[in-house]
Amino acid sequence: MINLNVNIKENNKTYPIIIDNNDIKLLKTEILKHLKGKKFVVVFSQKVDKLYGSLLGFEKNDKFILKDGENQKNLKNYEKILAFCLNKKLTRDDAIIAIGGGVAGDIAGFAASSYMRGIDFIQVPTTLLACVDSSVGGKTAVNTSFGKNLIGSFYQPKAVIINTNFLKTLDERNFKTGLGEVVKYAFIEKSCKCKEELNLINFLEENYKKILDYDSQILTELIKICLLLKISVVENDEKESGLRRILNFGHTYGHAIEKLTKYKKYTHGECVVEGIKFAFNLALNNNLIDKNYLYFMQDVIKKFSFKEIPPFELKKVIPVMKTDKKSSTDFIRFILPVDYSTVKEFEFNELLTIS
Ligand code: GLY
Repeated sequence: MINLNVNIKENNKTYPIIIDNNDIKLLKTEILKHLKGKKFVVVFSQKVDKLYGSLLGFEKNDKFILKDGENQKNLKNYEKILAFCLNKKLTRDDAIIAIGGGVAGDIAGFAASSYMRGIDFIQVPTTLLACVDSSVGGKTAVNTSFGKNLIGSFYQPKAVIINTNFLKTLDERNFKTGLGEVVKYAFIEKSCKCKEELNLINFLEENYKKILDYDSQILTELIKICLLLKISVVENDEKESGLRRILNFGHTYGHAIEKLTKYKKYTHGECVVEGIKFAFNLALNNNLIDKNYLYFMQDVIKKFSFKEIPPFELKKVIPVMKTDKKSSTDFIRFILPVDYSTVKEFEFNELLTIS
């Protein structure tokens, strides 16, 4: 078992992250230890409930089953979760648990942050993407017709409990979307201000075959490394006023092509990987890196055989990139590589030259 801790200095908030591969039958007891007898509602991804519901053993009455898919992260379901909690007469002392991927975690976290002005929240991520990224750091949200994640809050969970057994049933595409975020961490590691030297790029190069074989021990180590990097970033900048923006490496272009394809054609991770390639090319064109580092990135990424996305016309992508990150500006903000596993933020104008 691995125990990590998040300490958000700004508001003195501390919480544990537990990573293990114990029998899933034992997980309910493990989760309830963090609740100390409180009442709770479990927001359950439908897919995970089908596969693991009976093993986990939560009462039907305590479960809000959420269909899968990004489009389920909407205000209607948010309201339904709150009504479910009200019907169960949850009080301010009670809790919401999310069991599922990023969709369940984001919407349940937002419900927890606003129910009775905020109740305890436990994240049990079951996808690789949720394990390495969305379950930690306190971003919660729902989508609206105006865009993704525009309504939400920063609300840190009380605990994050990761059981790597869930990953065994992830299909390849879902697994690789998580690997897209993993690769992102590798190329930003030195900028994360982590005290430990983790060398994620080496880890990926040495272990990519085992990772692609879903080797449990290696995946546990991989999640630990990514989370140590994420923890270091969010501890320094919970509300994304500075350092946390580096986690958007690959996301400026990535988000734009996700949006242009209506969030249907490609997964988030596939788009992030394309965004990383775009960022490297932009960095090369602006003499921030040399060609060898670009080739090096291509070699690392090739090992994971991500789905390739054909390039989009810049005149279509640029207007979408300009409105990324909840702000409409005259410039486009990019996180770009400047050295081995090091990134910096730059502002570009519409011609994609540094402004
Ligand atoms: N997923 C990026 C962040 O948590 O800031």
